[in-house]
Amino acid sequence: MTRAVIVGSGAEVPPVKVDNHALARIIDTSDEWIRERSGVESRFFVEPGTATSDLGVAAARRALEAAGTAPDEIDLVVFATMTPDHFFPGAGALLQTKLGLRTVPCIDLRQQCVGFLYGLQVADAHVRAGLARCVLLVGAEVHSGFMPWSASNWDYLLGRGDTPPTPDELAWNSRFRHLTVLFGDAGAAVIVKAVEGDERGVLAHELHTDGRDYEKLYVPGTGFKQRPYVDPAQIARGDHIPVMDGRFVFKMATTQMIEVAQTLLRRHGLTQGDLKMVLMHQANKRINEYCQKALGLRDEQVLHNIERYGNTTAATIPLLWDECARSGRFEPGDLVLLVAFGAGMSWGASLVRV
Ligand code: ACO
Repeated sequence: MTRAVIVGSGAEVPPVKVDNHALARIIDTSDEWIRERSGVESRFFVEPGTATSDLGVAAARRALEAAGTAPDEIDLVVFATMTPDHFFPGAGALLQTKLGLRTVPCIDLRQQCVGFLYGLQVADAHVRAGLARCVLLVGAEVHSGFMPWSASNWDYLLGRGDTPPTPDELAWNSRFRHLTVLFGDAGAAVIVKAVEGDERGVLAHELHTDGRDYEKLYVPGTGFKQRPYVDPAQIARGDHIPVMDGRFVFKMATTQMIEVAQTLLRRHGLTQGDLKMVLMHQANKRINEYCQKALGLRDEQVLHNIERYGNTTAATIPLLWDECARSGRFEPGDLVLLVAFGAGMSWGASLVRV
């Protein structure tokens, strides 16, 4: 039987580190509030001009190196992001040319925080069907474009300017504070290869979407429901910034992540004790602590890195995977459960044997 095995991973974290104290220079917020409610302590941002495809390319180069794989071997690219460089084409085509890949198919996925898991299923399905033997799967985000801060606010935040926000700017920045303090930029990638007769590899997936409550987490403007799709009035209203009902999302995320993890384990006759690690999407440390408790997982089975990076949407799970792979937390044969929830609403879990 052909299995899709993750044979290498890589990550790219941008250079500009911003801690909660720095954010409080341009937003009415505090380190205490952010830490207590979300677990985030810092996040990283790109310099202007660096785009999602650039983070994806850097992460992919590291993944190729870790996998001992030449770029020419790649025969499919799957790129998950909700912050593409351009409205179209997707970031996959840009990565394909920057990496100098052959003219292989590039699929772009828009499943937000669950993008990596949807991408893993697409990669797995292509491998099992014999359509691909070496897939580059990327999750990357540049969320800094969502930050509603002016150029001089960015300079003040980063200690590169000495003009503090005006009262109007402070009020505007603070209107989005429940959202903006949570996110950071990053990219991560894995190489998924077809391996014959191996115990290792992607074992199963359980993916869901329920669009009924999409307005609890979405970008109201800059879409083709508008004519034109973007105009100054939308920007003035802040319709280009995501809307998030944090409490609703928190509740649905905990409910669905627990249920999907339990369902997948039950379906495969496994218990939480069989799992070496559970890598959960990093949206809020309290969401994951709640899920950990409900699933009866020990601390050493769960890795968090939200405190350093914030929520990096499609990049969170491959970033965790790369951290485990490079720090020697994984041993061949380990069972790992990946679980995520995000906008759509979409959620899911994947079971992988390392
Ligand atoms: N700093 C200081 N105070 C703040 C901040 C801030 N950054 N943000 C909100 N507050 C204030 C509010 O104004 C409110 O004040 P009030 O009581 O005077 O009105 C108070 O804090 C409580 O606000 P809530 O929004 O109710 O706070 P809550 O405890 O729900 O925490 C949070 C907010 C952290 C957003 C939480 O709801 C959460 O994490 N939800 C899930 C987020 C998530 O998972 N998103 C999905 C991933 S994103 C994706 O898929 C793309």
